[in-house]
Amino acid sequence: MGLGKELPYQRCRERITALCEGETDVIAKMASVVAVLHDGMAGFYWTGFYRVVDGKLVIGPYQGTVGCLRIEFGRGVCGTAAETGETQVVPDVHAFPGHIACDEKSRSEIVVPVRDASGGLIAVLDIDSDAKGTFDEFDREQLEVIVAEVFTAD
Ligand code: SME
Repeated sequence: MGLGKELPYQRCRERITALCEGETDVIAKMASVVAVLHDGMAGFYWTGFYRVVDGKLVIGPYQGTVGCLRIEFGRGVCGTAAETGETQVVPDVHAFPGHIACDEKSRSEIVVPVRDASGGLIAVLDIDSDAKGTFDEFDREQLEVIVAEVFTAD
């Protein structure tokens, strides 16, 4: 698990920490996290945030092909992560009931809930791959640590 991903994640975490140090603007931090991960991790075909706005998920900073603009809570992988508050690791998106195909090349996906310092859900981090089975428990662990450090820590 995590084979070959340790060093890229370590480098991404260092870059993200350095970039976001002292920054309070949430969009600036989201844009920086996306740019570093999309550039630094192999197989990240679509990398972006959906923000919680008036009880719905609305697209935020992202890199990759054009994403859907709005997603309802409970719909697709992103909506399921938002509704349950649990990271969703999906090895084969075609086997996930209700998966939203923004890009037909998407084959696997991980979606991590993002919380602020008071514990409120502010967004989800969505990463898609064009290969099956790209994401595993190591990705979950690393990405959960990154979003906690950047958005939840005081
Ligand atoms: N596939 C996602 C929708 C977002 S796009 O992949 C950018 C989902 O089912 O939530």
